Amino acid sequence: MFEEQPPSVQNRVKSLASEAQAQNQPYAWFEPLYAQANGNTEQVPWAKATAHPYLQAWLPEQPQPPAQSKALVIGCGLGNDAEALQAHGYQVTAFDVSPTAIAWCHQRFPNSAVDYQVADLFHLDFGWNQAFDLVYECRNIQALPIPLRPQVVGAIAPLVAKTGQLLVVTRIRADEQACEGPPWPLSPLELAEFENYGLVEIERATFVEGETITVQQARILYQYP
Ligand SMILES: C[S@@+](CC[C@H](N)C(=O)[O-])C[C@H]1O[C@@H](n2cnc3c(N)ncnc32)[C@H](O)[C@@H]1O
Repeated sequence: MFEEQPPSVQNRVKSLASEAQAQNQPYAWFEPLYAQANGNTEQVPWAKATAHPYLQAWLPEQPQPPAQSKALVIGCGLGNDAEALQAHGYQVTAFDVSPTAIAWCHQRFPNSAVDYQVADLFHLDFGWNQAFDLVYECRNIQALPIPLRPQVVGAIAPLVAKTGQLLVVTRIRADEQACEGPPWPLSPLELAEFENYGLVEIERATFVEGETITVQQARILYQYP
């Protein structure tokens, strides 16, 4: 769930992320991070050998999706969550801004039925509006600076079909105080931004992780009323 990273990995993330922010390109650091990892998942701080445990726990509680149901995985990283959703019965599209991450997904899952694509959340032009029965957002919003929150939420919410659902897995913070990142946990008002798009929170599970550092996380399900 939450693993503290070796200082070398933490420092590399901090330095790549702050360099990208200084250049006003807040997500330009992901591609160099994946490229520099050079196929070693230990160098990718969020990489896991399996799907995220909160997704793994949630999926068996869900009914089998009707045939042809479509899921979209935002910022899919190394692809485990996309593969889990595909195995559950969705036709999955998964995208990431990093070409190296997507190449890595193809390499890790060569026979996958998931449609992996290189795409930028802020420049999606694939006719994906309201196209997905399940949109899955895991740990991407928190990886982008707080001032981008309205744009991120505004890019994700319209992808959910009117009869669909949005599942968010994220770190959370208790109040609106600014915080240091990455990652930047989401505040109550930042999460409530989804409701401005008509989505309603219908389920929330919260988790406290970590030993020396405590991290609060949530798995939240939204849908249209
Ligand atoms: C913290 S990682 C989380 C990856 C994955 N969701 C997970 O939980 O393992 C953030 C991911 O978002 C991707 N990303 C960042 N900005 C993006 C953007 N504008 N469009 C698409 N993907 C983006 C990064 O390349 C990275 O893979």
